[in-house]
Amino acid sequence: MPSQSVRQPIALLGAGGAGRALGVALVAAGFSVSAVWSRRRERAEELASLIPGSRVCSTPHDAAGSGRLVVLAVPDSAIAPLCASLSWRPDQAVIHLAGAFGRELLAAAARAGAATGAFHPLQTFAGAAVPTAWQGIAVAIEADPSLQGELLALAQQLGSRPFLLSPEQRPLYHAAAVLAANGLVALAGVAAELIAQATASDRATALRSLFPLLSGVLANLDQLGLPQALTGPVARADRETIDRHIEALAHTAPTLLPLYRALAQAMLPLARERAAAAPERLVALDDLERWLASEEVAR
Ligand SMILES: NC(=O)c1ccc[n+]([C@@H]2O[C@H](COP(=O)([O-])OP(=O)(O)OC[C@H]3O[C@@H](n4cnc5c(N)ncnc54)[C@H](OP(=O)(O)O)[C@@H]3O)[C@@H](O)[C@H]2O)c1
Repeated sequence: MPSQSVRQPIALLGAGGAGRALGVALVAAGFSVSAVWSRRRERAEELASLIPGSRVCSTPHDAAGSGRLVVLAVPDSAIAPLCASLSWRPDQAVIHLAGAFGRELLAAAARAGAATGAFHPLQTFAGAAVPTAWQGIAVAIEADPSLQGELLALAQQLGSRPFLLSPEQRPLYHAAAVLAANGLVALAGVAAELIAQATASDRATALRSLFPLLSGVLANLDQLGLPQALTGPVARADRETIDRHIEALAHTAPTLLPLYRALAQAMLPLARERAAAAPERLVALDDLERWLASEEVAR
């Protein structure tokens, strides 16, 4: 695809995890960033110090006015009110980074003739911003037809892998992202609490002991893919082991039983794929599925 030019300079409103990561990546990719604004000036100053040539603005109005491409990197609930509070020109484009919402949050800018788009990085940004954070990541784009090519070029020049996402597909796409990213953190938290209880240690120590296991799972997913990355008692149709887990949870952490059961049920299709050439394993998986759905386990 020929790389289209991206309008510049770029103004960055919001210096949180996502804004910082994007600002640093934009500079590394050679883009001109004119201005940075954040509610707390010290956060804008910190980010501007990493972006040569940018200035810290006292108001979002000043910052937005200085850019031809304006990025609203503020929390999802703040995007529409911030957009509606600013003045827009027809030569400008404005984008946000939210995954769950589309261009509708930028309707005020569209009414003033600015081009609008949603530019969602399928990545989590916490901690220090590194210039390579946008490299190799998927970026979901929804934009005015006149802006699509420009946003595809922007993502490509950041080293990302852009794709177009329709407004209808967006909630499902974002639910998947939340399951993979935040769901994994929640599972790690639950597992660390259980290990801490089982070994009389603290949660931080327990979490650290889980790291090699977690990174081993990610490496298996990367190298073997699905369903091969699934190991464990469900993949082996080992009902006796699962029964012991359920008894232990019922005794120590009964509120986690529905989660354990739901995850075991979610593993079944993958276990079946793995067992496709082993008829006796498939029969055992059918039995396991019936048992997991039974009153005996559900109560
Ligand atoms: N972080 C991620 O991993 C990630 C990943 C993908 C997409 N995103 C998207 O990126 C956007 C920003 O998220 P984030 O995680 O970077 O947020 P964040 O860390 O909470 O930072 C938000 C920024 O917006 C400012 N802000 C907070 N509330 C505001 C309000 N009511 N009005 C105006 N400004 C406000 C903050 O200012 P002060 O701190 O100066 O008060 C800060 O500069 C969101 O749309 C999010 O969905 C985030």
